[in-house]
Amino acid sequence: MGRAAVLTGIGSTVPEQVVTNDMLAARMDTSDEWIRSRTGIRERRRVGVGTATSDLAVEAGRRALKSAGVESVDALVLATTTPDHPCPATAPTVASGLGLGPIPAFDVAAVCSGFLYAMATAAGLISLGTADRVLVVGAEAFTTIIDPDDRNTAPIFGDGAGAVVLTAGHQSDRGALLAFDLGADGDLADLIVVPAGGSRQRTSGVEPGPTDHFMKMQGRTVFVNAVNRMTESSRTVLRRTGWDPGSVDWLVGHQANVRILHAVADQLDLPGERAFVNVDSVGNTAAASIPLALDDAARAGRLAPGDRVVLTAFGGGATWGAITLEWPDLAAL
Ligand code: ACO
Repeated sequence: MGRAAVLTGIGSTVPEQVVTNDMLAARMDTSDEWIRSRTGIRERRRVGVGTATSDLAVEAGRRALKSAGVESVDALVLATTTPDHPCPATAPTVASGLGLGPIPAFDVAAVCSGFLYAMATAAGLISLGTADRVLVVGAEAFTTIIDPDDRNTAPIFGDGAGAVVLTAGHQSDRGALLAFDLGADGDLADLIVVPAGGSRQRTSGVEPGPTDHFMKMQGRTVFVNAVNRMTESSRTVLRRTGWDPGSVDWLVGHQANVRILHAVADQLDLPGERAFVNVDSVGNTAAASIPLALDDAARAGRLAPGDRVVLTAFGGGATWGAITLEWPDLAAL
């Protein structure tokens, strides 16, 4: 059996501040009923003054290391859309905050698919023998790029972080990442975009408008593409793993919208109950969403050792991906 990356620890964190639908409805033209029925979201978390992405990432990383029972790793890969600064990357700050020493640490940017891209990157480091143990973190202070007055995006997004430890093992180990599928289509880059802050805007000769540092989203088109790409990507990894779709215990999709999660389950002929949902309490946390969902599911005892799990995501770029694994016997703290 070949060398493989095996999931051996998990942890997550969300900021304390809760933003309910009613709080949003007091500020803009929306309602609890509209948000719940269109997205499934009841509330989301928001970082307070002085809390940045790396702060959330360090806490989630600390919990994942504790869950794995280790104090050191050989590399750290951080998926984020909301780095502490445009330059440098945030991962070295996180490694430093965790006291991990001079290990390689770098960011991966694939928006809501970022965590799956980071897992695949970490698995590559392990397969090559470059690392025996990697901390993979998805962390977002996503509300910092959301216009608080935009009803198209403010109800949807929230902040949080999740992390896993991947350790060198074998394909036959429970927790081994079994199959990967990743994809991107830059023709769809405008579906989810922050217009300002990058070289495109800075070299345009035009000063940014007052809301150009906030994310704009074409929600309806994103919805359709998310369902199609997450379904196709899940089918691809199921085929590569040799699993019948009906044998899947849990579909842990990117928590964008409960209707998207149920539509993907439906396309895969899975009962809706097998699509894990925590978007109701945390909103869409972009690159943090999948590890947050996995940790919530594990801590709630919903994921049992040996369960067949499909992870899948779609996000800005556009990017997408999917990974299969059998859930390991690990401590969710
Ligand atoms: N409150 C009340 N009404 C609203 C709100 C709101 N917050 N937002 C939009 N509306 C209105 C619209 O103006 C529209 O009114 P109209 O019919 O008079 O034009 C009506 O509600 C319906 O709008 P739609 O956009 O068609 O609503 P839809 O059912 O598509 O839901 C939503 C919108 C929730 C954004 C949905 O399209 C969605 O979830 N899309 C996917 C978004 C997503 O997953 N994004 C993240 C991808 S991951 C990443 O990389 C960041």
